[in-house]
Amino acid sequence: MLLPADPKAEFLSFAPQIRAAIERVLTSGHYILGPEVEAFESEFSRYLGGGQVIGVANGTEAIELALRAAGVGPGDRVATVANTVTATVSAIEQIGARPVFVEIDPATLVMSLPALQAILAGTVVKAVIPVHLYGHPADMPGIMALCRAAGVVVIEDCAQSHGARVGGRHAGTWGDYAAFSFYPTKNLGALGDGGAVLASQPEGADRVRRLRQYGWRQRYIAESPGRNSRLDELQAAILRVKLPFLDALNARRRLLAAAYEEQLASLPLRLPATAAGVEPVYHQYVIRTDRRDALREALLPQGITCGVLYPVPIHRQPAYADPDLSLPESERACAEVLCLPCHPGITEADVETVARAIRTFFAR
Ligand SMILES: Cc1ncc(COP(=O)(O)O)c(C=O)c1O
Repeated sequence: MLLPADPKAEFLSFAPQIRAAIERVLTSGHYILGPEVEAFESEFSRYLGGGQVIGVANGTEAIELALRAAGVGPGDRVATVANTVTATVSAIEQIGARPVFVEIDPATLVMSLPALQAILAGTVVKAVIPVHLYGHPADMPGIMALCRAAGVVVIEDCAQSHGARVGGRHAGTWGDYAAFSFYPTKNLGALGDGGAVLASQPEGADRVRRLRQYGWRQRYIAESPGRNSRLDELQAAILRVKLPFLDALNARRRLLAAAYEEQLASLPLRLPATAAGVEPVYHQYVIRTDRRDALREALLPQGITCGVLYPVPIHRQPAYADPDLSLPESERACAEVLCLPCHPGITEADVETVARAIRTFFAR
């Protein structure tokens, strides 16, 4: 069975090191915010090449805490895209802010720069959250130029882009803050929930650190309002096992993506596009066809399970429905996208199997 992601296969490939890391934590006596979290934070910030990492409970809260640290509050508007997971928007909602949806670029499926420019010209926005969807970063040089000129905070949603680069810099190091998820299927995944904020400035890092634990700077003394959103020692230890292999795992994803590109080239499909200066990490390998649902169903009995991320844009979902808002590119993308199995747990032969099944489907 070929799956869109296979966290069990990834666990098995690191099993001895992960078991040793778990044993080390179990016998350490530190289970929350101890030496493993501290070490992971400094290793991940060194890997990213800038800023301070603060481990938190999950990716949604990473976005929420970054928004709070940036001073976004009730009633503020936050611009993001509508073809993301609802988590991005629920983080905005948690603080009483309101999402403003920006149209996407039809080729790369990430935030469109002209669309953002139009929004910033007509709406007072406090923060922008570009989502580096499927492992392809948004146009960060362009977004930063627009947002700096408008005095708007930028929080990168890096839940799907660990290790991706734009203009030679890691995704996450462009904005004021970045939010990472370590959900088990992510390019850098834990074996449970986990997340991190990357703060570009020490004062911002300090605010996030206080926010994640009851507003404490010093134990038991709340200096500011806060909450509990901590990364635990077990997950941090597991992430430390995998981090040194992140680039190699991403390189493997790129090889598989290149194999798909070659083998699907002649079909009536839209294959993923890569913008100039971007080094994507293929969190998903996403093809587009108006026969998406039929193709997905045809592949299933052949043992090929594909994902649809995401089937309904947020402004068309019951919780956030806005019938007056039209985002044709986002709506079309959600109707057409299909995520093929593309992760380090599969082989080139698996890619061939999937490509052959897709060719057969279009030959009918
Ligand atoms: C783009 C995006 N943003 C935010 C999140 C939320 O992360 P988490 O599930 O760790 O809260 C996810 C994970 O599903 C995601 O893919």
